[in-house]
Amino acid sequence: MSGKNGPEITRLGSMRDVQRFQEHLQSLQLSIPCDRELVHGEESPLARPLLRGGLKIGNRIAIHPMEGWDGTADGNPSDSTIRRWQRFGRSGAKLIWGGEAVAVRNEGRANPNQLVMAEHTLKGLARLREVLIEEHRQTTGSDEGLLVGLQLTHSGRYSRPRQRLEPRILYRHPILDKRLGLPPDYPVLSDEEVAGIIEDFHRAGRMAQELGFDFVDVKHCHGYLGHEFLSAHTREGRYGGSFANRTRFLREVTAGIRSAAPGLLIGVRLSAFDMVPFRPDPDRSSPGKLGPGVPEPHEQCIPYRWGFGVNPQDPTQADLAEPVRFLSLLEELDIRLVNLTAGSPYYNPHIQRPALYPPSDGYQPPEDPLAGVARQMEMVRELKQRFPELMVVGSAYTYLQDFLPHVAQAALREGRVDSVGLGRMVLSYPAVLWDVIAGQTIQHKLVCRTFSDCTTAPRNGLPSGCYPLDSYYKASEAAEQLKAVKAKRRA
Ligand SMILES: Cc1cc2nc3c(=O)[nH]c(=O)nc-3n(C[C@H](O)[C@H](O)[C@H](O)COP(=O)(O)O)c2cc1C
Ligand code: SF4
Repeated sequence: MSGKNGPEITRLGSMRDVQRFQEHLQSLQLSIPCDRELVHGEESPLARPLLRGGLKIGNRIAIHPMEGWDGTADGNPSDSTIRRWQRFGRSGAKLIWGGEAVAVRNEGRANPNQLVMAEHTLKGLARLREVLIEEHRQTTGSDEGLLVGLQLTHSGRYSRPRQRLEPRILYRHPILDKRLGLPPDYPVLSDEEVAGIIEDFHRAGRMAQELGFDFVDVKHCHGYLGHEFLSAHTREGRYGGSFANRTRFLREVTAGIRSAAPGLLIGVRLSAFDMVPFRPDPDRSSPGKLGPGVPEPHEQCIPYRWGFGVNPQDPTQADLAEPVRFLSLLEELDIRLVNLTAGSPYYNPHIQRPALYPPSDGYQPPEDPLAGVARQMEMVRELKQRFPELMVVGSAYTYLQDFLPHVAQAALREGRVDSVGLGRMVLSYPAVLWDVIAGQTIQHKLVCRTFSDCTTAPRNGLPSGCYPLDSYYKASEAAEQLKAVKAKRRA
C-alpha cells in the first residue's frame, strides 16, 4: 500500500523472528535467500576460506570502504580515523576492501577532510594499516589469510577539496549539471588533465605497495571520476564514446600501477548498475518534510546516454550488458578482486544504500528498502554466475538488520557471492558476523537501523559516525551540532 509519504514499510527492528522475516520476504515477493538456523564455528559458510588463483582469503567477511570525513586538513588520519580502522580490524573480516576512499591528489578530495595519498601522509596511512592488523590479530588470534587493500579515488564531479563543490567533470550531464549549478560553458577535464590524474594513480599505487597494502581498489563507483568514465558516451576524444575509450582510464591506470608496483594486486569497486537521478516528489514534500523519491523528469533524455548499466530506453531500469563486458575486461586484465555496488549516494541513495530514514539531502524511500537489497543481491548473483573465477564481494546488506547473518549465510551457501561486505553495520556493530562464527549471541542493541545520521552529519560539514548507537559519537560535541541541524531542518 502506498500513501502520501511513500509505501507502507514494515519495520524490521520490531521483527525478531526469522520465520516471520521469511514470510515477510515472501509477501513482498523478493528473492532474498535466508537461513532459519545460523551455523557456528568452522562449519559456518562465513568461516570458509576463499581460495582462487593462488590467493587465499581467510574467511567470507569483507569490510567495505567507509570514510569518516574526519581526516586532518592536510589529508592525514585523525584519532577518529584511527579508531574506525581499529574497529574494521575488530570485525574479524579477512578482507578489508580499501579501508576508505583516499584521494590521489588534493583537488580530487570529496571533502576537505578526506585522506590524501602523498609523501606527507605516508606515516599516517601506514599507521592505519598497522592498528587494523593489530586489532584483527587480537580478535581472531592471527593475521593469516588477511588481505588489506586501499581504495584510491578521484572525486570527479563531486570534488570538494575546500568548503565548496569544485566539480571536475568528463562530460555535460543534462540533469546533474543543473543540480550542481554548472553553467553550459563549465570546463570539461581535457585528455591531458586526465593523463595527469592517471599518473597520480600510478604514484599512489607505488606508495600503497611501499606501505604494505596487499592491493589497491581503482574506484569505479558512486558517481566519482572512475565511474563517470564508464558513462562518458557523449565525450569526445580518447576517453569517451566507445566502450574501449570509456574503459581506457582503467586500462591505463592498471598498466601503470603494474609497472610502478609489480606484484601489487588490483581490485575494482564497481557501480554495476545505475538509474536516473531521483529527487523528493515536489507534490508530496512540504517545508521540513522530504517527499518520497521520484525519478527526475527525463522524457527529453531518451535514449539515455549518461549512465552505465542503465537501460537507455528506460533509465529507471538496470541493464547489465555493459557491466558484463566490463567484468570480461577485468578478467582479461587479470583483475580478480571485484566489489559490486550500485548507483550513487548523491543522486539515487535508495539504490546504493537502502535505508528506512533518508539522509538530509535525500528523500523518503520510494520502495520498501528490502527491494533495494534484493536488487543488488540479484545483480551480484547474476554476475557471479557468469564469472565464477572472479572473487566477488556483495554490498548493501545492512538494511537486513538482525537478519543480515541469516541472509549472508544463505547467500554464501548458495554460491551467490564469494564474500559478504559490511558497510554501515561496521560502524555500529563491527563484529556482527564474527560473533556468528564465534557462537556469540547477536547484540540487537548494536544493530544499525539505517537512521542515516552517518550520512546526514557529513552532508552538514560534521564527521561521519554512528551517532545513535556508538557512544563515542553519541557523547560528542558533534552530536549536539547534528541535533541542532536536524531540528532546524524540521522547523
Ligand atoms: C558513512 C559512509 C561512508 C562511506 N564511505 C565509502 C567509501 O569511502 N568508499 C566507498 O566505496 N563506499 C563508501 N560508502 C558506501 C558503503 O561502502 C556501502 O556500499 C553502502 O553503505 C551500502 O552498504 P551497507 O548496506 O552495508 O551500508 C560509504 C557509506 C557510508 C554510509
Ligand atoms: S548512523 Fe548508525 S544506525 Fe544510522 S545508518 Fe549510520 S551506522 Fe546505521
